[in-house]
Amino acid sequence: FDAVSVIATKRDGGALSDAQIDWVVEAYTAGEVADEQMSALAMAIVINGMDRHEIARWTEAMIATGHRMDFSGLRRAGSPLRTVDKHSTGGVGDKITLPLGPLVASYGLAVPQLSGRGLGHTGGTLDKLESIPGWRADLTTAEMTAALEKVGAVVCAAGADLAPADRKLYALRDVTATVESIPLIASSIMSKKIAEGTSALVLDVKVGSGAFMKTEPDARELAETMVALGHDSGVDTVALLTRMDAPLGRTAGNALEVAEALEVLAGGGPADVVELTLALATEMLALGGITGVDPADHLADGTAMDRWRAMIREQGGDPDAPLPVAAHTETVTVPAGGVIESIDAMAVGVAAWRLGAGRARQGEPVAAEAGVVIHARPGETVASGAPMFTLHAADPSRFAGAIAALTDAVRVGDHTVEIPHRVIDRV
Ligand code: URA
Repeated sequence: FDAVSVIATKRDGGALSDAQIDWVVEAYTAGEVADEQMSALAMAIVINGMDRHEIARWTEAMIATGHRMDFSGLRRAGSPLRTVDKHSTGGVGDKITLPLGPLVASYGLAVPQLSGRGLGHTGGTLDKLESIPGWRADLTTAEMTAALEKVGAVVCAAGADLAPADRKLYALRDVTATVESIPLIASSIMSKKIAEGTSALVLDVKVGSGAFMKTEPDARELAETMVALGHDSGVDTVALLTRMDAPLGRTAGNALEVAEALEVLAGGGPADVVELTLALATEMLALGGITGVDPADHLADGTAMDRWRAMIREQGGDPDAPLPVAAHTETVTVPAGGVIESIDAMAVGVAAWRLGAGRARQGEPVAAEAGVVIHARPGETVASGAPMFTLHAADPSRFAGAIAALTDAVRVGDHTVEIPHRVIDRV
């Protein structure tokens, strides 16, 4: 094969053969297909799509570039431990993994979360947890296994040999406007989750302005594609379609989101974050064979918080250490008095990113303390001149760009608005 003919096949709307897919994924990972060739192919896939068979083969080919993990031997007190994971397609203010992992683990399941870092305007779980002094994302497989057997919840970076094709392709897509593609997102997420070796998986597929999928039909197709990929590989997979028009909760940024997750673990926190945490926990527990419990109980009685503290300590973090605080803050007021009709998640995500919570270039450090606090939520009534956002940054030169991003982020009207639930449907 040669890369040019593979690109031309997809450019002209054809289906790639199994052999073409196996070759191009392997050769790109090995450095024999150049970045500019893979970016042309990725763009052809964005434009012309892939059928289900091509997506399944592409996913298998990405898995085959690395090693599969195996948690089937996990034991606690001599009994096998069942693994259940969750993955979100990416959102703004999405800190759900932080309370969810310990909550589900507190019912006796093992949650082997291999998480990512921020991508574009969306935050990454590892970046958030790294705002906790001492906490380490890089664990060996032996450390991960020990943490699962002891604590039940672990959040760590994928090792270099877990779907290395995705690691390379993901970085390329990030800088070539080729993220927003159902085949590419589905294969990216599922290659990592299948290689991770979880026996069950709950997907949180985001829909709306702050998500990669802007419409419900697209999100549904993404969800169905991923659920089918999971089932074909023996992973018990369920997806929830959830709204990402407004940011989740009241914070976007790393340490700010950890603080909000702690409120949820303490039995409080914003209603939408709690709703989604409990909906995903219920699905995970059911896949793990645990029914007839109300996961809200372990948020209310401190059991999930105890598990969180154990999880943070197990990975070198100090759960009692103060979180980093921004040296500079700036307040943005509401555009007018009235009822908040909407807050654009994308605008808030871009603002947090520009404040330093995300990266402009691959591999850059993020500012733990940077981000946005949202004072009023959709449906709330605000007086003219009331605070809308507080911006947090290490460097005040960041404020202008963030304020520009937020210019039209908030719509205020004069009628009460119905705030829909976050969960739209289950696939
Ligand atoms: N998350 C991933 O891991 N991959 C994508 O392509 C999009 C979101």
